[in-house]
Amino acid sequence: MFSQDQITRSTDYDALSCRLSCHLKGYLIDKYLEKEISGIIRFKLLSIESEFKRLSVKRQLSKQFFGLVDPKGGLKVSSRLPVVLKSPVINRGTWIRTRSIDLVIDQWLGENATSKVQLVILGSGNDTRGFRLLEKHPNLSLIEIDFEETCRIKKYSILNEIALKTVVDAKENQIPDTHEAFINSSASLSTPRYHLIPLDLRQLSSVSQLPSLDPALPTLVLTECCVCYMEDNESNRVLQFFRENLQSGVLVMYDPIGGDSSANYGQIMLQNLSMRGIQMPSLLKYSTIEKQHDRLRELGFSLTNVSDLSFVYTHWIDQPELVSINRLELLDELEELSLINKHYCLLVSSWGTSWRLAFPSQI
Ligand SMILES: C[S@@+](CC[C@H](N)C(=O)[O-])C[C@H]1O[C@@H](n2cnc3c(N)ncnc32)[C@H](O)[C@@H]1O
Repeated sequence: MFSQDQITRSTDYDALSCRLSCHLKGYLIDKYLEKEISGIIRFKLLSIESEFKRLSVKRQLSKQFFGLVDPKGGLKVSSRLPVVLKSPVINRGTWIRTRSIDLVIDQWLGENATSKVQLVILGSGNDTRGFRLLEKHPNLSLIEIDFEETCRIKKYSILNEIALKTVVDAKENQIPDTHEAFINSSASLSTPRYHLIPLDLRQLSSVSQLPSLDPALPTLVLTECCVCYMEDNESNRVLQFFRENLQSGVLVMYDPIGGDSSANYGQIMLQNLSMRGIQMPSLLKYSTIEKQHDRLRELGFSLTNVSDLSFVYTHWIDQPELVSINRLELLDELEELSLINKHYCLLVSSWGTSWRLAFPSQI
């Protein structure tokens, strides 16, 4: 039996395989993604002693990552793409999710290019966005928070993949000698600009739990499909924690919505989640962009932008970029894409700063 937290953690792999599919199809270029996934595969296989169990885990990983698992461990991508990747509609949805958040962060970092700033990613999982940003922005320091086991795997990938180790500037002597020593060592990693913090966010109550956080620095807090897995009082406490403890900040929140809609899609989302044992309380409680808007306003945030992803898709992306995306693969299901995109929202809000997002808001 898996615990509820294990089930929640596993959603990280869904996000990763969607991104890998997008990367392989050319929607997103991410030079760190294959390295990160290779590290995960190696870690998962190394920690299993039984040959039988190893085969079964290899099969599972292979299914998750499109049959690209190297028999010797790691990810093996050749010039011939696997026949089965994610469907065009899923690729397009993953692309707009990643691209829209990139647009917000790029604007914020662009306008803070000469000062020291920090990015805090809640439930960062094995996402590689932070690595790409560290590489591009020398004034940025990055704090990533997730459950302990997820951080341990990410730490393993970072320390065992030279490109990842270099981008976070980790030192050689941070690698434990043996796999067993690694499993028994701390899951945290700290370098001058990068901090990986193992923590159940529901337990966050004091800044002393985040020693690398500088409350005086301009900060962007990103939660991308993370707080939706918590009960609403827990997630609201997490959001409020950052608003209360940082002098100024921008919150970027990407979450599913629409669980209470009588429309089929909302019902299907709920059914799919419950079949996998995934709990997502906010899907019902904050089911519309208006409810999400009111939620953040009640928590003391000033809202600058509240939109669903269908709005973002049509109003934020330049025509030439859309044309080049449309060339990547044929997409017949435009109505389906719009319906899916209407079930995700992006909220950008701030406190202690006059910073405003330059893109249009739906409400
Ligand atoms: C769907 S994944 C998204 C990962 C990443 N943000 C992305 O978009 O690729 C959700 C992540 O949130 C993390 N998470 C959920 N609840 C958490 C909690 N209470 N404390 C720390 N991490 C949590 C999970 O472990 C998982 O890595």
